[in-house]
Amino acid sequence: MKKAGWQWAGVFALVGAVTIFTTCSSPGPDNGTSAVPDTGTFTIGMSQCNLGEPWRVQMNSDIEKAAKEHPELRVIFKDAQNQTTIQQSHVREFVGQGVDLIIVSPLEAAPLTGPIAEAHKSGIPVIVLDRAVLGEEFTLFIGADNVRIGEAAGRWVKEKLGGAGKVVELKGLMTSIPGQDRNAGFRKGIEGSDIEVIFEADMRWLQPNAQSEMESALTRFPDIDLVYAHNDPGAYGAYLAAKAAGREKDMLFVGIDGLPQEGLAYVNQGILSATFEYPTGGKEAITYALAILKGEEPPAKHVVLPSRFYTKENLAQGGQWLQ
Ligand code: FRU
Repeated sequence: MKKAGWQWAGVFALVGAVTIFTTCSSPGPDNGTSAVPDTGTFTIGMSQCNLGEPWRVQMNSDIEKAAKEHPELRVIFKDAQNQTTIQQSHVREFVGQGVDLIIVSPLEAAPLTGPIAEAHKSGIPVIVLDRAVLGEEFTLFIGADNVRIGEAAGRWVKEKLGGAGKVVELKGLMTSIPGQDRNAGFRKGIEGSDIEVIFEADMRWLQPNAQSEMESALTRFPDIDLVYAHNDPGAYGAYLAAKAAGREKDMLFVGIDGLPQEGLAYVNQGILSATFEYPTGGKEAITYALAILKGEEPPAKHVVLPSRFYTKENLAQGGQWLQ
């Protein structure tokens, strides 16, 4: 797996320290674009689709923390800044550099499928993290089950609203699989009830978009019982819009992600009625990366991470696992 001799060998002879490079914040002689040195370490290229949301910052930090436990790992982080073309280039650059393994958390499914398949065909193991691509041309997928999360949210909403009510659905980017799955799962969860989705919009996972979509919903609909947003930033954006209109107490807000500093804090403050955990998988990505780099076969092609839901009532006990 390790690359042939290279002039950088001396520079990186310091085995024992994991070096984290970020293309945005650390321009220097090695900003993640030069060829991979042969230092007795494994180099992992990690392409993050954006770092604008706390959840993605958390994923990178989970990866960084886990990698630090393994002195033989070096991780090059790249941030695609929410642009598919940048992320496509990341994958191709990693292949050109000859990294030992690639981790990608894709922005969108279809446009990343080709570059990931090419990398995999070239013999570089690829771990797809959180947002899936199309087909199976990669080494391993790690992520939680978004259909299950959406369905659990739908069932929870059905029960909370007593089987009937008017709901606004603020969807994640619908060209990404989690957005599609959280939508399909939710619709399944509310099946057989009198819950009506009166307004739906693609807020592309972003709080400011959710806020402005919610402003439209509030203008059009005098009665809204609940907002189901595909992530906690979206739910919070909707809450801010409702608060600005003086209507935040008329409705409930439900989100997904459940970060302690974000969704769980909102639940604790009574801003969200519930949030569903969406684990970043950062730690697991490093565990499996290491195993793959050491020549072990992953246990399955898809590793499905468990998820919990949190309400004010179960917060202190650490939430409740989804069945
Ligand atoms: C961050 C994020 C999370 C969401 C995940 C889905 O970019 O929007 O809030 O749960 O991506 O892939």
